[in-house]
Amino acid sequence: MKTKTICFLNNKGGCGKTTTCCNVGYALAEQGYKVLLIDADMQMNLTLSYFPEETVLALAMGDKNIYDVIKNKGTIQEKISSTAYPNVDLIASSSLMSGIEYELLTRWQREYILKNAMQELVKSEHYDYILIDSPPTLGGWVMNILCAADYLLIPVEASPWGLFGIANLFEFLEASKQIAPQLQVLGVVVTKADERKAYLKQTLEALKDLESTYVFKNYIHVDSAIEWAQEASKPVLVHKKNSRSAAEYLALAKEMAIRCQ
Ligand SMILES: Nc1ncnc2c1ncn2[C@@H]1O[C@H](COP(=O)(O)OP(=O)(O)OP(=O)(O)O)[C@@H](O)[C@H]1O
Ligand SMILES: [Mg+2]
Repeated sequence: MKTKTICFLNNKGGCGKTTTCCNVGYALAEQGYKVLLIDADMQMNLTLSYFPEETVLALAMGDKNIYDVIKNKGTIQEKISSTAYPNVDLIASSSLMSGIEYELLTRWQREYILKNAMQELVKSEHYDYILIDSPPTLGGWVMNILCAADYLLIPVEASPWGLFGIANLFEFLEASKQIAPQLQVLGVVVTKADERKAYLKQTLEALKDLESTYVFKNYIHVDSAIEWAQEASKPVLVHKKNSRSAAEYLALAKEMAIRCQ
């Protein structure tokens, strides 16, 4: 199978990008796909979702992270860490990435550094899916992520401010088509849904206005098992297999895989 690269992006912070990327990645692996997760956010939350804090700090300070690739210190293949799960590998981020926007300014073809670095790996078709977790920003680094991805998935939190600013995101995506023409919006995923709160319905209604954007049928409810799983540095599908969110991530992963065909 040809490798499919999907990035998880929304400049709104805390909407569930990392949690969705972590768990959908594991769910795809459980369905037999070979998955590589790339943590492209200096908060390192995706790395923390799979490794304990000491390991994460060592990865950040060492040379096995995505930042080293951007600095031309080795190939992306050399930066891959194995997780505790056979079908899931991960490339860590680094908390030292804070100056990346300035660093990119002096580089040739600055929007394509990540894409170029991934070229061999993608061509090898070693992975079925490469999932990239993005930071909550819209700058030159995020443009690199958009250029490297085939598909984009937008998590939206079912909250009063969850959709505030989404028009700006779509404007940014429209403008980015000039340099990332291959990118397809896979759809919007509603996260942290709570049936008791009126704004879940409001969010679902408002999403109908995004005419040409697909809204995933499967959405993710608020579930405390997610936070416990994150504390244990495990996907919720491992930490609490019979939880509601574990079943929801599995269903979402299936829906995603169908949409990527
Ligand atoms: N379905 C859920 N149920 C309960 N808590 C959730 C759920 N999804 C996410 N969270 C919590 O919400 C917080 C934000 O989630 P997450 O880190 O995935 O968002 P993010 O979009 O990646 O944030 P950032 O913009 O900072 O990268 C986390 O503390 C996470 O534990
Ligand atoms: Mg995040």
